[in-house]
Amino acid sequence: MRSFLLLLIVLSLSLFTTRSTAHNITAILSGFSDYSLFNSYLTQTKLADEINSRQTITCLVLNNAAMSALAAKHPLSVIKNALSLHVLLDYYDGQKLHEISKGTTLTTTLYQTTGNAPGNLGFVNITDLKGGKVGFGSAAPGSKLDSSYTKSVKQIPYNISVLEISAPIIAPGILTAPAPSASDVNITALLEKAGCKTFVSLIVSTGVLKVYQSSVEKGLTMFAPSDEAFKAPGVPDLSKLTNAEVVSLLQYHALAGYTPIGTLKTTKDPISTLATNGAGKYDLTVTTAGDSVTLNTGVDASRISGTVIDATPLCIFTVDSVLLPSELFGKPPSPAPAPEPVLSPSPTPVVSPSIAPKSAKAPAPSILSPPAPPMSAPEGAPADSPDGTSENTTSENAAGDGRAPALFKTLVTVSAAFAAWAFLS
Ligand SMILES: *[C@@H]1O[C@H](CO)[C@@H](O)[C@H](O)[C@H]1NC(C)=O
Ligand SMILES: *[C@@H]1O[C@H](CO)[C@@H](O)[C@H](O)[C@H]1NC(C)=O
Ligand SMILES: *[C@@H]1O[C@H](CO)[C@@H](O)[C@H](O)[C@H]1NC(C)=O
Ligand SMILES: *[C@@H]1O[C@H](CO)[C@@H](O)[C@H](O)[C@H]1NC(C)=O
Ligand SMILES: *[C@@H]1O[C@H](CO)[C@@H](O)[C@H](O)[C@H]1NC(C)=O
Repeated sequence: MRSFLLLLIVLSLSLFTTRSTAHNITAILSGFSDYSLFNSYLTQTKLADEINSRQTITCLVLNNAAMSALAAKHPLSVIKNALSLHVLLDYYDGQKLHEISKGTTLTTTLYQTTGNAPGNLGFVNITDLKGGKVGFGSAAPGSKLDSSYTKSVKQIPYNISVLEISAPIIAPGILTAPAPSASDVNITALLEKAGCKTFVSLIVSTGVLKVYQSSVEKGLTMFAPSDEAFKAPGVPDLSKLTNAEVVSLLQYHALAGYTPIGTLKTTKDPISTLATNGAGKYDLTVTTAGDSVTLNTGVDASRISGTVIDATPLCIFTVDSVLLPSELFGKPPSPAPAPEPVLSPSPTPVVSPSIAPKSAKAPAPSILSPPAPPMSAPEGAPADSPDGTSENTTSENAAGDGRAPALFKTLVTVSAAFAAWAFLS
């Protein structure tokens, strides 16, 4: 039995690792001093992780002079948006640029996946101009093609292509959009809007919100369970925890540092949380299947269901389950989840007095009208689409929602198997 579980785990791990990164943009660009500034910004904005986590991608790079002009006087979150427009979600080498059908095309960029790009601002127009020149510009109507292809830097067909262009591609408004300073962001307002009211009330009442707020400037990533997540069967009764335990539980839902989705996807080692108080304590592991990213606590697994905000240095995600750290909930679940409604006398009469007399003969009213299971959510209720959340959800997550349920189930099964195996051994 145990070896079977182990086999299952190994098989599923190999399933996930087949998708492991085939390229490393940081390493590719490190061979070219002309792009050292561009490369440094890819690292600072964590776009490098996003690039490495994807296949079939083209990175349009700028030399140091062009990059320093772009970077001047802009906060990192704005630079990140601008650079996202230089990452094309398709493979273009020099030859393909000159073979574009009808000589012009619009191609999707990473910026389009952020949910920050209204209209077609997340697309880039590539046009084969006369005389062998290829022009690039924003797809927004009326934009000029004032950037052009200068040379090929590196190709790994058909995984990644790196091309140099002469000037930044600027979408209208991308540099002037107000970048809220992280300390101005109202975390509770954002979370309430995203359908995480229960989580908000907990972090406010325990004071953990202040811990979060004091961490924002240095970088903070939060995983906020939806209100549905707190109502799910199997969520422990938080009132049975001590205050200190509730604080640990809430701190377990955040990481120090800015960790956007692409970085989570490329994370292989366990990650520390704000609750971590010693090596290996209160940490999480991440598994990725397609575009679906799942956090594993050792007790349960929780899928990232949406992005509330991704603006360096702050990143807030919604997750579809409460993260249960093994330090607090590591005991194996009791074989039969105590069916309390049946056994414990209900504090309020189940059968109201006005009804009771009609069945006066009956000695035990509770037998006549068995209490309905108190906590099952309405069948078919949307599990993880709280009102409004999905609006600014990254499209890749939205895609993942529909696409990966089978893999996700496998993952949950495997996680459960792993927990069982860990318990047995
Ligand atoms: C492209 O990526 C795939 C999948 O990661 C990998 O198997 C393949 O070796 C890569 N191709 C090259 C030329 O590196
Ligand atoms: C990518 O390359 C850089 C520089 O060579 C290295 O520091 C980094 O660890 C590499 N990343 C991965 C995921 O291998
Ligand atoms: C790209 O831009 C050029 C110049 O503005 C325009 O003529 C062309 O139609 C655009 N291409 C597409 C596919 O929209
Ligand atoms: C943040 O939003 C909440 C509503 O969620 C509001 O009560 C609070 O006053 C706001 N805080 C600030 C500093 O604006
Ligand atoms: C989504 O973002 C836009 C601006 O980028 C904002 O106007 C809109 O209110 C946001 N919607 C939600 C649900 O947060």
